Amino acid sequence: MNASADRIVLNVGCGPRQPDKLAPVFRDPGWRELRLDIDPDVEPDVVASLTDMRAVPDASVDAVWSSHNLEHLFAHEVPTALAEFRRVLKPQGFLLVTLPDLQAVAKVVADGNPDAVLMRTRMNGAEGPPITALDILFGHDWWIERGRTFMAHRTGFTRQTLGRKLLDAGFGTVAVRPGPAFDLWAVAAVQPLRADLGLLDRAMGMGLGPASVTTAPVQPSPLASAA
Ligand SMILES: C[S@@+](CC[C@H](N)C(=O)[O-])C[C@H]1O[C@@H](n2cnc3c(N)ncnc32)[C@H](O)[C@@H]1O
Repeated sequence: MNASADRIVLNVGCGPRQPDKLAPVFRDPGWRELRLDIDPDVEPDVVASLTDMRAVPDASVDAVWSSHNLEHLFAHEVPTALAEFRRVLKPQGFLLVTLPDLQAVAKVVADGNPDAVLMRTRMNGAEGPPITALDILFGHDWWIERGRTFMAHRTGFTRQTLGRKLLDAGFGTVAVRPGPAFDLWAVAAVQPLRADLGLLDRAMGMGLGPASVTTAPVQPSPLASAA
């Protein structure tokens, strides 16, 4: 943790401390990481669920970084978690999310390859267990087999549904794009000018294909769409 940094990033569902897994945009010394997880074993600063982060005050962080955890919630819990993310963000803050791309992995399954090894994890600097299409859909079985049942996935997102849920949660500007590893990346902000493609590029540390960008009224609308 960098005590002299003036901006706070709340790393929700942080997992074990892994500075190299922090999105590139937050590796700048100006950022201080506050780690939150439901699992005390990963030694977070705050032990809490994404759906109840009352230990984190309103409007107290400059960014929320959510990497591969919203899919661990039940679908009906997602709006509660997104409302919590929005609550703890300062008005000028932003949310950065990455999670599995349901549509991309569904194509692999539709082609008849649910057990296909799509990538490998890294563990303690070495090659870790493989990740199959089934793991991306239902949660990494290697962990679940070892008793971490909260690693199971209970919902999923496409580019469109993630964007829509972010808009419905009251984020005024939302950009979503597919990543390189069967994943989606999204940036969202309440204040329209702070969520842009440049930020998404810097957050991801790479330039990718076109994103779907949606600007909506700050008040959520039932007609809001990320398409
Ligand atoms: C797949 S790991 C991702 C860890 C890290 N963010 C990363 O990208 O490497 C999912 C993490 O989400 C946490 N998690 C699962 N459900 C949660 C919940 N309801 N609230 C907070 N954290 C949760 C798990 O304990 C685990 O550390």
